[in-house]
Amino acid sequence: MSAPVLLIGAGMIAHDQILPALLQMQREGRIGEITVCARSRRSVAALAAAPALRRAFPGQSFAALPDESADPEASYPELYKAALASMPPRSVVVAAVPDHLHYPVVMEALRNEQHVCCVKPLTLEVAQSIAIEEESRKRGLLVGVEYHKRFDPRSLMARDRYRRGLFGEFKLGSARLMEKWHYRHSNFQNWFTTERTDSFVYIGCHYVDLVHFITGLLPAAVSVYGIEDELPNGEKGYLWSDARVIWENGACLNVQNSLSFPDAAPGPNTQGMTLYFAGNGNGALLDHSDQYRGVAYSHTETPAGPGGTRYSEPSPDYFLYQDLGGPGLTPTGYGVRSVEHIVGEALRVEREAASPAERRRLLAAIDGRGIMATPANSRFNEAVCEAARESILSGGETVALKR
Ligand SMILES: NC(=O)c1ccc[n+]([C@@H]2O[C@H](COP(=O)([O-])OP(=O)(O)OC[C@H]3O[C@@H](n4cnc5c(N)ncnc54)[C@H](O)[C@@H]3O)[C@@H](O)[C@H]2O)c1
Repeated sequence: MSAPVLLIGAGMIAHDQILPALLQMQREGRIGEITVCARSRRSVAALAAAPALRRAFPGQSFAALPDESADPEASYPELYKAALASMPPRSVVVAAVPDHLHYPVVMEALRNEQHVCCVKPLTLEVAQSIAIEEESRKRGLLVGVEYHKRFDPRSLMARDRYRRGLFGEFKLGSARLMEKWHYRHSNFQNWFTTERTDSFVYIGCHYVDLVHFITGLLPAAVSVYGIEDELPNGEKGYLWSDARVIWENGACLNVQNSLSFPDAAPGPNTQGMTLYFAGNGNGALLDHSDQYRGVAYSHTETPAGPGGTRYSEPSPDYFLYQDLGGPGLTPTGYGVRSVEHIVGEALRVEREAASPAERRRLLAAIDGRGIMATPANSRFNEAVCEAARESILSGGETVALKR
Protein backbone atom coordinates (compact mmCIF):
# COMPACT_ATOMS: atom_id res chain seq x y z
CA MET A 1 0.00 0.00 0.00
CA SER A 2 1.29 3.50 -0.84
CA ALA A 3 2.48 5.64 2.08
CA PRO A 4 0.06 8.23 3.44
CA VAL A 5 1.19 11.87 3.57
CA LEU A 6 0.24 14.51 6.13
CA LEU A 7 0.44 18.16 5.05
CA ILE A 8 0.48 20.56 8.01
CA GLY A 9 -0.62 24.05 6.96
CA ALA A 10 -3.28 24.99 4.41
CA GLY A 11 -2.23 28.49 3.36
CA MET A 12 -0.90 30.07 0.20
CA ILE A 13 2.04 27.74 -0.46
CA ALA A 14 -0.14 24.68 0.25
CA HIS A 15 -2.65 25.85 -2.36
CA ASP A 16 -0.20 27.15 -4.95
CA GLN A 17 2.40 24.39 -4.96
CA ILE A 18 2.55 21.71 -2.25
CA LEU A 19 -0.90 20.16 -2.38
CA PRO A 20 -1.09 20.04 -6.20
CA ALA A 21 2.30 18.29 -6.25
CA LEU A 22 1.07 15.76 -3.66
CA LEU A 23 -2.23 15.20 -5.46
CA GLN A 24 -0.28 14.50 -8.66
CA MET A 25 1.90 11.95 -6.83
CA GLN A 26 -1.29 10.37 -5.49
CA ARG A 27 -2.77 10.27 -8.99
CA GLU A 28 0.34 8.43 -10.16
CA GLY A 29 -0.03 5.91 -7.32
CA ARG A 30 3.21 7.01 -5.64
CA ILE A 31 1.59 8.08 -2.35
CA GLY A 32 -1.60 7.03 -0.58
CA GLU A 33 -4.12 9.04 1.41
CA ILE A 34 -3.42 12.76 1.93
CA THR A 35 -4.47 14.50 5.15
CA VAL A 36 -4.26 18.28 5.50
CA CYS A 37 -4.20 19.72 9.02
CA ALA A 38 -4.45 23.46 9.66
CA ARG A 39 -5.13 25.57 12.72
CA SER A 40 -8.65 26.49 11.66
CA ARG A 41 -11.51 24.73 9.93
CA ARG A 42 -11.86 27.81 7.71
CA SER A 43 -8.35 27.28 6.31
CA VAL A 44 -8.80 23.60 5.31
CA ALA A 45 -12.37 24.15 4.09
CA ALA A 46 -11.16 26.92 1.77
CA LEU A 47 -8.46 24.61 0.41
CA ALA A 48 -10.95 21.79 -0.17
CA ALA A 49 -13.22 24.16 -2.09
CA ALA A 50 -10.44 25.87 -4.10
CA PRO A 51 -11.62 26.06 -7.74
CA ALA A 52 -8.12 25.51 -9.23
CA LEU A 53 -7.64 22.27 -7.27
CA ARG A 54 -11.13 20.96 -8.01
CA ARG A 55 -10.64 21.57 -11.71
CA ALA A 56 -7.19 19.97 -11.81
CA PHE A 57 -8.00 16.95 -9.65
CA PRO A 58 -11.61 15.82 -10.26
CA GLY A 59 -12.45 12.77 -8.15
CA GLN A 60 -9.55 13.31 -5.76
CA SER A 61 -9.79 14.71 -2.26
CA PHE A 62 -8.00 14.84 1.07
CA ALA A 63 -8.96 14.25 4.69
CA ALA A 64 -9.29 17.65 6.36
CA LEU A 65 -8.47 18.47 9.99
CA PRO A 66 -10.22 20.13 11.80
CA ASP A 67 -13.12 18.17 10.29
CA GLU A 68 -16.57 19.52 9.46
CA SER A 69 -17.80 19.12 13.05
CA ALA A 70 -15.36 21.86 14.18
CA ASP A 71 -16.32 25.44 14.98
CA PRO A 72 -15.21 27.36 11.84
CA GLU A 73 -13.98 30.30 13.89
CA ALA A 74 -12.14 28.32 16.61
CA SER A 75 -8.36 27.85 16.63
CA TYR A 76 -6.79 24.39 17.02
CA PRO A 77 -3.05 25.11 17.25
CA GLU A 78 -2.23 21.72 18.83
CA LEU A 79 -4.33 19.53 16.55
CA TYR A 80 -1.35 18.70 14.34
CA LYS A 81 0.09 16.71 17.25
CA ALA A 82 -2.89 14.33 17.26
CA ALA A 83 -2.71 14.13 13.45
CA LEU A 84 0.97 13.16 13.68
CA ALA A 85 0.31 10.57 16.37
CA SER A 86 -2.24 8.85 14.13
CA MET A 87 0.15 8.50 11.15
CA PRO A 88 1.72 5.07 10.54
CA PRO A 89 5.42 5.32 11.46
CA ARG A 90 7.84 6.15 8.64
CA SER A 91 5.30 7.89 6.45
CA VAL A 92 5.91 11.44 5.12
CA VAL A 93 4.95 14.80 6.64
CA VAL A 94 5.14 18.12 4.79
CA ALA A 95 5.42 21.16 7.07
CA ALA A 96 3.99 24.33 5.44
CA VAL A 97 3.25 26.49 8.48
CA PRO A 98 4.63 29.98 9.22
CA ASP A 99 8.41 30.20 9.71
CA HIS A 100 8.47 30.35 13.52
CA LEU A 101 6.44 27.11 13.76
CA HIS A 102 8.76 25.00 11.61
CA TYR A 103 10.86 23.91 14.57
CA PRO A 104 8.10 22.59 16.87
CA VAL A 105 6.24 20.97 13.96
CA VAL A 106 9.33 19.27 12.46
CA MET A 107 10.51 18.01 15.87
CA GLU A 108 7.07 16.62 16.69
CA ALA A 109 6.98 14.88 13.30
CA LEU A 110 10.38 13.28 13.93
CA ARG A 111 9.36 12.14 17.42
CA ASN A 112 6.44 10.43 15.71
CA GLU A 113 8.86 8.59 13.37
CA GLN A 114 7.98 10.58 10.25
CA HIS A 115 10.13 11.65 7.31
CA VAL A 116 9.82 15.40 6.77
CA CYS A 117 9.72 17.85 3.88
CA CYS A 118 9.77 21.37 5.33
CA VAL A 119 9.24 24.61 3.41
CA LYS A 120 12.11 27.07 3.72
CA PRO A 121 13.66 28.38 5.94
CA LEU A 122 14.04 25.22 8.02
CA THR A 123 14.45 27.20 11.25
CA LEU A 124 15.52 30.68 12.26
CA GLU A 125 18.26 29.43 14.63
CA VAL A 126 21.33 27.26 14.17
CA ALA A 127 20.77 25.37 17.46
CA GLN A 128 17.31 24.31 16.27
CA SER A 129 18.67 23.02 12.97
CA ILE A 130 21.30 21.01 14.89
CA ALA A 131 18.59 19.55 17.14
CA ILE A 132 16.56 18.55 14.06
CA GLU A 133 19.60 16.93 12.47
CA GLU A 134 20.39 14.96 15.64
CA GLU A 135 16.80 13.79 16.07
CA SER A 136 16.50 12.70 12.43
CA ARG A 137 19.90 10.97 12.43
CA LYS A 138 19.07 9.04 15.61
CA ARG A 139 15.89 7.73 14.01
CA GLY A 140 17.15 7.25 10.44
CA LEU A 141 14.66 9.74 9.02
CA LEU A 142 15.00 12.16 6.11
CA VAL A 143 14.52 15.91 6.53
CA GLY A 144 14.51 17.83 3.23
CA VAL A 145 14.17 21.60 3.03
CA GLU A 146 12.04 22.73 0.11
CA TYR A 147 14.24 25.32 -1.68
CA HIS A 148 12.50 24.90 -5.02
CA LYS A 149 14.74 27.31 -6.94
CA ARG A 150 17.31 24.48 -6.83
CA PHE A 151 15.07 22.55 -9.24
CA ASP A 152 14.78 25.40 -11.75
CA PRO A 153 16.76 24.22 -14.81
CA ARG A 154 18.62 27.55 -14.95
CA SER A 155 19.99 26.93 -11.43
CA LEU A 156 21.14 23.44 -12.42
CA MET A 157 22.71 24.78 -15.64
CA ALA A 158 24.59 27.47 -13.70
CA ARG A 159 25.71 24.97 -11.04
CA ASP A 160 27.10 22.62 -13.65
CA ARG A 161 28.91 25.42 -15.50
CA TYR A 162 30.35 26.95 -12.33
CA ARG A 163 31.60 23.59 -11.16
CA ARG A 164 33.21 22.96 -14.55
CA GLY A 165 35.12 26.23 -14.06
CA LEU A 166 33.37 28.07 -16.91
CA PHE A 167 32.69 31.18 -14.82
CA GLY A 168 35.85 31.36 -12.70
CA GLU A 169 35.30 32.58 -9.14
CA PHE A 170 32.25 34.46 -7.82
CA LYS A 171 33.13 38.02 -6.78
CA LEU A 172 30.11 40.33 -6.75
CA GLY A 173 26.38 39.98 -7.22
CA SER A 174 22.97 41.43 -6.66
CA ALA A 175 19.60 39.74 -6.31
CA ARG A 176 16.06 40.94 -5.71
CA LEU A 177 12.76 39.34 -4.84
CA MET A 178 9.82 41.64 -4.15
CA GLU A 179 6.40 40.18 -3.48
CA LYS A 180 3.25 42.12 -4.26
CA TRP A 181 1.84 44.81 -2.01
CA HIS A 182 -1.39 42.87 -1.39
CA TYR A 183 0.51 40.24 0.64
CA ARG A 184 0.25 42.72 3.51
CA HIS A 185 -3.51 42.22 3.55
CA SER A 186 -3.37 38.39 3.71
CA ASN A 187 -2.82 36.13 6.73
CA PHE A 188 0.77 37.43 6.59
CA GLN A 189 -0.19 40.35 8.83
CA ASN A 190 -0.72 37.83 11.64
CA TRP A 191 2.86 36.55 11.59
CA PHE A 192 5.07 38.81 9.41
CA THR A 193 5.86 41.02 12.39
CA THR A 194 9.08 42.77 13.44
CA GLU A 195 9.96 40.38 16.25
CA ARG A 196 9.31 37.21 14.22
CA THR A 197 10.66 37.57 10.69
CA ASP A 198 11.47 40.07 7.95
CA SER A 199 11.56 40.38 4.17
CA PHE A 200 15.14 39.09 3.89
CA VAL A 201 14.61 36.01 6.07
CA TYR A 202 11.32 35.28 4.33
CA ILE A 203 12.43 35.47 0.69
CA GLY A 204 16.04 36.69 0.52
CA CYS A 205 17.20 33.33 1.81
CA HIS A 206 16.30 31.83 -1.61
CA TYR A 207 19.13 33.71 -3.30
CA VAL A 208 21.65 33.03 -0.54
CA ASP A 209 20.83 29.35 -0.89
CA LEU A 210 21.10 29.59 -4.67
CA VAL A 211 24.52 31.26 -4.67
CA HIS A 212 25.77 28.41 -2.47
CA PHE A 213 24.01 25.82 -4.63
CA ILE A 214 25.71 27.19 -7.75
CA THR A 215 29.16 28.04 -6.41
CA GLY A 216 29.60 25.76 -3.38
CA LEU A 217 30.84 28.81 -1.43
CA LEU A 218 29.68 29.40 2.15
CA PRO A 219 28.46 32.74 3.50
CA ALA A 220 30.61 34.21 6.29
CA ALA A 221 28.88 37.41 7.49
CA VAL A 222 25.71 39.38 6.90
CA SER A 223 24.33 42.82 7.51
CA VAL A 224 20.67 43.64 6.91
CA TYR A 225 19.10 47.07 6.91
CA GLY A 226 15.33 46.87 7.34
CA ILE A 227 12.58 49.44 7.04
CA GLU A 228 9.59 48.93 9.31
CA ASP A 229 6.16 49.59 7.91
CA GLU A 230 2.66 49.23 9.28
CA LEU A 231 0.58 46.19 8.39
CA PRO A 232 -3.17 46.68 7.78
CA ASN A 233 -3.99 45.29 11.27
CA GLY A 234 -1.73 47.89 12.90
CA GLU A 235 1.18 45.49 13.59
CA LYS A 236 4.68 46.50 12.46
CA GLY A 237 6.91 44.47 10.17
CA TYR A 238 10.16 44.85 8.26
CA LEU A 239 8.42 45.00 4.90
CA TRP A 240 11.56 46.30 3.10
CA SER A 241 15.12 45.03 3.50
CA ASP A 242 18.56 45.46 1.98
CA ALA A 243 21.11 42.78 2.84
CA ARG A 244 24.82 42.45 2.20
CA VAL A 245 26.13 38.88 2.40
CA ILE A 246 29.92 38.41 2.54
CA TRP A 247 31.19 34.99 1.43
CA GLU A 248 34.14 32.93 2.63
CA ASN A 249 36.27 34.03 -0.36
CA GLY A 250 35.49 37.72 0.25
CA ALA A 251 32.77 37.89 -2.45
CA CYS A 252 29.75 40.08 -1.79
CA LEU A 253 26.06 39.55 -2.63
CA ASN A 254 23.52 42.33 -2.22
CA VAL A 255 19.92 41.14 -1.77
CA GLN A 256 16.89 43.45 -1.75
CA ASN A 257 13.49 42.19 -0.64
CA SER A 258 10.10 43.61 0.17
CA LEU A 259 6.36 43.12 0.19
CA SER A 260 5.97 46.15 -2.05
CA PHE A 261 5.89 45.21 -5.73
CA PRO A 262 2.96 47.25 -7.01
CA ASP A 263 -0.29 45.33 -7.34
CA ALA A 264 -0.70 47.03 -10.72
CA ALA A 265 2.66 45.69 -11.99
CA PRO A 266 2.75 42.54 -14.17
CA GLY A 267 3.63 39.12 -12.79
CA PRO A 268 3.15 37.85 -9.26
CA ASN A 269 6.46 39.42 -8.14
CA THR A 270 9.74 40.76 -9.45
CA GLN A 271 12.87 38.69 -8.98
CA GLY A 272 16.26 37.98 -10.49
CA MET A 273 19.98 37.71 -9.93
CA THR A 274 23.15 38.99 -11.59
CA LEU A 275 26.52 37.55 -10.57
CA TYR A 276 30.00 38.67 -11.69
CA PHE A 277 33.04 36.40 -11.68
CA ALA A 278 36.75 36.45 -12.45
CA GLY A 279 38.94 33.73 -13.91
CA ASN A 280 41.40 32.91 -16.64
CA GLY A 281 42.38 36.59 -16.93
CA ASN A 282 38.76 37.47 -17.81
CA GLY A 283 35.52 38.64 -16.27
CA ALA A 284 32.41 36.48 -16.50
CA LEU A 285 28.76 36.99 -15.71
CA LEU A 286 25.48 35.21 -15.11
CA ASP A 287 22.20 37.10 -15.41
CA HIS A 288 18.85 35.48 -14.53
CA SER A 289 15.51 37.19 -14.98
CA ASP A 290 13.53 34.94 -12.67
CA GLN A 291 10.24 36.73 -13.17
CA TYR A 292 10.04 37.60 -16.85
CA ARG A 293 10.45 34.33 -18.70
CA GLY A 294 9.52 35.51 -22.14
CA VAL A 295 5.74 35.23 -21.75
CA ALA A 296 3.57 38.38 -21.89
CA TYR A 297 -0.23 38.45 -22.03
CA SER A 298 -2.75 41.23 -22.14
CA HIS A 299 -6.30 39.98 -21.56
CA THR A 300 -9.62 41.62 -22.31
CA GLU A 301 -10.51 41.76 -18.60
CA THR A 302 -8.70 42.11 -15.31
CA PRO A 303 -8.82 38.76 -13.47
CA ALA A 304 -10.53 38.72 -10.09
CA GLY A 305 -8.49 38.42 -6.90
CA PRO A 306 -5.71 40.40 -5.28
CA GLY A 307 -2.84 41.34 -7.54
CA GLY A 308 -4.69 40.45 -10.74
CA THR A 309 -3.63 42.58 -13.74
CA ARG A 310 -4.88 42.70 -17.33
CA TYR A 311 -1.30 42.74 -18.61
CA SER A 312 0.74 39.97 -17.01
CA GLU A 313 4.06 38.15 -17.36
CA PRO A 314 3.30 34.68 -15.98
CA SER A 315 6.12 32.21 -15.32
CA PRO A 316 5.58 28.90 -17.11
CA ASP A 317 8.55 27.45 -15.23
CA TYR A 318 7.66 27.51 -11.50
CA PHE A 319 4.18 26.06 -11.53
CA LEU A 320 1.75 25.42 -14.35
CA TYR A 321 -1.41 23.37 -14.75
CA GLN A 322 -1.35 21.73 -18.17
CA ASP A 323 -4.08 19.94 -20.06
CA LEU A 324 -2.30 16.78 -21.14
CA GLY A 325 -5.50 14.98 -22.00
CA GLY A 326 -6.79 14.42 -18.48
CA PRO A 327 -8.14 13.39 -16.18
CA GLY A 328 -8.15 16.98 -14.96
CA LEU A 329 -4.95 18.98 -15.33
CA THR A 330 -1.33 18.01 -14.69
CA PRO A 331 0.76 20.32 -12.48
CA THR A 332 4.29 20.80 -13.84
CA GLY A 333 7.29 23.01 -13.14
CA TYR A 334 10.18 23.20 -10.73
CA GLY A 335 7.83 23.77 -7.78
CA VAL A 336 6.29 20.38 -8.46
CA ARG A 337 9.63 18.64 -9.16
CA SER A 338 11.04 19.94 -5.89
CA VAL A 339 8.24 18.46 -3.72
CA GLU A 340 8.27 15.23 -5.74
CA HIS A 341 12.03 14.94 -5.28
CA ILE A 342 11.98 15.27 -1.49
CA VAL A 343 8.91 13.09 -0.90
CA GLY A 344 10.21 10.60 -3.48
CA GLU A 345 13.60 10.34 -1.76
CA ALA A 346 11.91 9.67 1.61
CA LEU A 347 9.90 6.88 -0.01
CA ARG A 348 13.05 5.50 -1.66
CA VAL A 349 14.91 5.37 1.66
CA GLU A 350 12.01 3.37 3.13
CA ARG A 351 11.87 1.07 0.11
CA GLU A 352 15.58 0.40 -0.30
CA ALA A 353 16.97 0.32 3.24
CA ALA A 354 16.84 -3.18 4.66
CA SER A 355 18.66 -2.24 7.89
CA PRO A 356 19.39 0.83 10.03
CA ALA A 357 22.97 0.85 8.73
CA GLU A 358 21.77 0.86 5.13
CA ARG A 359 19.33 3.68 5.93
CA ARG A 360 22.19 5.73 7.41
CA ARG A 361 24.23 5.11 4.28
CA LEU A 362 21.40 6.25 1.98
CA LEU A 363 20.74 9.37 4.07
CA ALA A 364 24.45 10.26 4.18
CA ALA A 365 24.59 9.92 0.37
CA ILE A 366 21.68 12.38 0.03
CA ASP A 367 23.49 14.83 2.35
CA GLY A 368 26.69 14.41 0.36
CA ARG A 369 25.15 14.96 -3.09
CA GLY A 370 23.92 18.40 -2.01
CA ILE A 371 21.03 18.57 -4.49
CA MET A 372 18.39 18.38 -1.76
CA ALA A 373 18.92 20.86 1.07
CA THR A 374 19.14 18.97 4.37
CA PRO A 375 19.88 20.20 7.92
CA ALA A 376 23.44 18.85 7.62
CA ASN A 377 24.33 20.29 4.22
CA SER A 378 22.47 23.63 4.36
CA ARG A 379 23.02 24.80 7.94
CA PHE A 380 24.55 27.98 6.53
CA ASN A 381 20.96 29.04 5.73
CA GLU A 382 19.97 28.90 9.40
CA ALA A 383 23.22 30.69 10.30
CA VAL A 384 22.34 33.44 7.79
CA CYS A 385 18.78 33.74 9.20
CA GLU A 386 20.04 33.93 12.78
CA ALA A 387 22.72 36.52 11.97
CA ALA A 388 20.27 38.46 9.78
CA ARG A 389 17.73 38.71 12.59
CA GLU A 390 20.42 40.00 14.94
CA SER A 391 21.62 42.46 12.31
CA ILE A 392 18.22 43.85 11.28
CA LEU A 393 17.17 44.34 14.91
CA SER A 394 20.42 46.26 15.54
CA GLY A 395 19.87 48.60 12.59
CA GLY A 396 22.19 46.82 10.16
CA GLU A 397 25.36 45.82 12.08
CA THR A 398 27.59 43.26 10.34
CA VAL A 399 27.19 39.92 12.11
CA ALA A 400 29.57 36.98 11.59
CA LEU A 401 27.88 33.65 10.99
CA LYS A 402 27.93 30.84 13.54
CA ARG A 403 29.56 27.72 12.19
N1 LIG B 1 8.98 30.58 -2.12
C1 LIG B 1 8.83 29.75 -1.10
O1 LIG B 1 9.60 28.83 -0.88
C2 LIG B 1 7.69 29.98 -0.21
C3 LIG B 1 6.63 30.73 -0.67
C4 LIG B 1 5.57 30.96 0.20
C5 LIG B 1 5.64 30.46 1.48
N2 LIG B 1 6.70 29.73 1.91
C6 LIG B 1 6.80 29.28 3.30
O2 LIG B 1 5.65 28.51 3.61
C7 LIG B 1 5.27 28.74 4.95
C8 LIG B 1 3.80 29.10 5.01
O3 LIG B 1 3.60 30.22 4.18
P1 LIG B 1 2.18 30.54 3.54
O4 LIG B 1 2.44 31.61 2.55
O5 LIG B 1 1.49 29.31 3.09
O6 LIG B 1 1.46 31.17 4.83
P2 LIG B 1 -0.09 31.35 5.13
O7 LIG B 1 -0.16 32.34 6.22
O8 LIG B 1 -0.86 31.58 3.87
O9 LIG B 1 -0.55 29.90 5.69
C9 LIG B 1 -0.11 29.37 6.90
C10 LIG B 1 -0.91 28.12 7.22
O10 LIG B 1 -0.37 27.52 8.40
C11 LIG B 1 -1.47 27.10 9.20
N3 LIG B 1 -1.07 27.03 10.60
C12 LIG B 1 -0.64 28.03 11.41
N4 LIG B 1 -0.44 27.55 12.66
C13 LIG B 1 -0.74 26.24 12.62
C14 LIG B 1 -0.77 25.21 13.59
N5 LIG B 1 -0.40 25.43 14.85
N6 LIG B 1 -1.16 23.97 13.19
C15 LIG B 1 -1.51 23.72 11.91
N7 LIG B 1 -1.52 24.67 10.95
C16 LIG B 1 -1.13 25.91 11.31
C17 LIG B 1 -2.55 28.14 8.99
O11 LIG B 1 -3.81 27.59 9.35
C18 LIG B 1 -2.41 28.38 7.47
O12 LIG B 1 -3.17 27.42 6.79
C19 LIG B 1 6.21 29.82 5.51
O13 LIG B 1 7.25 29.20 6.23
C20 LIG B 1 6.79 30.45 4.26
O14 LIG B 1 8.09 30.97 4.47
C21 LIG B 1 7.71 29.45 1.06
